[in-house]
Amino acid sequence: MEQSIESYIKNLVRDVIGQTLGSLQIQGDRQTYVIANWKMNKTLAETAEFFQEINSSNDVTVVVCPPAQLLYPAHLFIKQSGKPVHLGGQNVHWADKGAYTGETSTAMLKDVGCEYVIIGHSERRQYASEDDSLVNMKVKQSLMAGLTPIICIGETLEQKNSLQTEEVLASQLFGALNKIDSSHFIIAYEPIWAIGTGQSATAELAQQTHAYIRSVLKQMFGEKAESISILYGGSANQSNAAEYSKMPDIEGVLVGGASLKAKSFDGMIKVFAKGDQN
Ligand code: 13P
Repeated sequence: MEQSIESYIKNLVRDVIGQTLGSLQIQGDRQTYVIANWKMNKTLAETAEFFQEINSSNDVTVVVCPPAQLLYPAHLFIKQSGKPVHLGGQNVHWADKGAYTGETSTAMLKDVGCEYVIIGHSERRQYASEDDSLVNMKVKQSLMAGLTPIICIGETLEQKNSLQTEEVLASQLFGALNKIDSSHFIIAYEPIWAIGTGQSATAELAQQTHAYIRSVLKQMFGEKAESISILYGGSANQSNAAEYSKMPDIEGVLVGGASLKAKSFDGMIKVFAKGDQN
């Protein structure tokens, strides 16, 4: 297939930017993550099988976020396997404990081996009416408990088409991070139009948006923003992971569908593991 001059130049520029900035260590001490969000999927048997099959790496932080009732068995399977895999919740409550039927507290997550928790996923914003102030309460609660929040932000297709992406993201960031001093969190940029649709953002668009997100984080956290990891999510898979991994402001991926099969998740881990980026 013939490549147009335009796409040739784009690829060239992207490669040069990615490699040059990478070699200048602009990414500093930013940690790279490959994170699985299983959403409402998998049985106990499938969970056991996944952790048997997965080949993790020490060069990238691998986190798996199963549904709440599979957290403890997942913790045991990980321990048994001896693989360097970390565990995260998909949601958490803002209160310590109490009469909140069906909810999970930070203490409960920690008790079953979680170190991370996804907060403000667009599906929860949609189905459970979570807004930025609730996200903010959950982030505060998680930081206090020593869990690392994975804060999800992203615009709808309508907002993208009406050129509101930056405005929406800035408002989500200011809302979620209101009165928070600690920069021990991860941002996941998940454009809603890319989630589960197969229409992933191009690596160039994701890079451009991540750079914008970092500029907002700089306004809020100063130089500390340089060490905050910003992950891309939305139809990320084994085939497009390599493109994302070359970008200077993309420190990994938050993966839905493609994280359900150990083989495709492994493929993404390999791409982001140091030395495998090409
Ligand atoms: P998909 O990878 O299935 O598009 O889901 C992305 C996501 O929502 C991860 O949190």
